[in-house]
Amino acid sequence: MSDTSDNITIERKHSHVEICLHGDVVFNCKTTGLERFEFVHNALPELSLSDIDLSTTFLGKKIGAPLMISSMTGGYSEASTLNQHLAEAAERFNIPLGVGSMRQALENSSYRESFAITRKFAPSIQIFANIGAPEIAKGLRKSDITMMLDLLNADGLIVHLNAAQELFQPEGNTNFRHVLEQLSTLTNTITVPVIVKEVGCGISATVARQLIEAGVSVIDVAGAGGISWQKVEEIRYTRQFGHDNRFSPAALDFLLNWGIPTAQCLLDILELKKEHPEFKDVEIIASGGIACGTDIATSLALGARLAASARYILKALHEGVLEKTIDTWLNDLRAVMFLTGSATIEDLRNKRLLIKH
Ligand SMILES: Cc1cc2nc3c(=O)[nH]c(=O)nc-3n(C[C@H](O)[C@H](O)[C@H](O)COP(=O)(O)O)c2cc1C
Repeated sequence: MSDTSDNITIERKHSHVEICLHGDVVFNCKTTGLERFEFVHNALPELSLSDIDLSTTFLGKKIGAPLMISSMTGGYSEASTLNQHLAEAAERFNIPLGVGSMRQALENSSYRESFAITRKFAPSIQIFANIGAPEIAKGLRKSDITMMLDLLNADGLIVHLNAAQELFQPEGNTNFRHVLEQLSTLTNTITVPVIVKEVGCGISATVARQLIEAGVSVIDVAGAGGISWQKVEEIRYTRQFGHDNRFSPAALDFLLNWGIPTAQCLLDILELKKEHPEFKDVEIIASGGIACGTDIATSLALGARLAASARYILKALHEGVLEKTIDTWLNDLRAVMFLTGSATIEDLRNKRLLIKH
């Protein structure tokens, strides 16, 4: 990799964190849709709050709660500290963690430590490697896959599909040909599970079906309602070029707010799984705008195995309240379990949701 492209990648990963913390990056007039649902109150819960067990399983392993820290960063020096703190929190709560895109680790060995540090501080949890669709489209070498997995002693590989982000990114790679075919090859090649996620535009039932048929084990919907990666890249673009005349002004707002709300993705995939009992073992992660424990609870009742969060987790870390925030979210979840009479996460998954009017 040339020094120039190395610098662009470092600038990109660095400014992603900075813009996500301080920029106006949330969808306008579009929410996750999770707030449209409510549980049926159970006036006779027949359990004590202290009986409630938040543990569950993910990919066959017991975890402390149905929450995951979504893929965020790595590949530049300050990322080591961020990843260390994320790993420490994930280890403390015994919840899974994804690292950020490892493209930089593939291209330059000097940045590998910023990813590897997660395993040092989180020896017992599930940690997932991460790579983008454009790299998958090119076809990864077996040695690249081995390097990424070995670096983290990873429990699986996450592939992110981020067409809208690449479309807006100043240096974006918009060649998404052959991604599905290469994913199919990947799932046949590696022995750990492949998770496919979006980054904020959501995964439809049609795409979910294509992914499942390609051998993907877990789908993380990463729907709209939280962060708009189009907006993050638009900020980087206008910083670089002053203004954006790539799209007409009337279309810009439409495109910046493009995406399927998280709850809609979950509903559509739940329906798909009902129609196809053979898809029952595919696990679904709810993400995109998860902001509290009641969002986690609603996601589980909409068919998710767990929920995942990136931007709120990053903000909490930045404000020095990460562990407190996770504790509070788990307490929100415990409250819903108490009020629905759910002693276990499995009980909660079977609870009925009403649509608010
Ligand atoms: C600072 C930051 C960097 C991110 N980098 C990556 C990445 O490298 N790979 C990836 O799959 N997703 C990445 N994401 C996307 C998240 O994993 C997540 O899918 C998305 O932000 C939606 O979740 P949220 O609304 O909880 O933030 C990043 C998110 C943040 C906040």
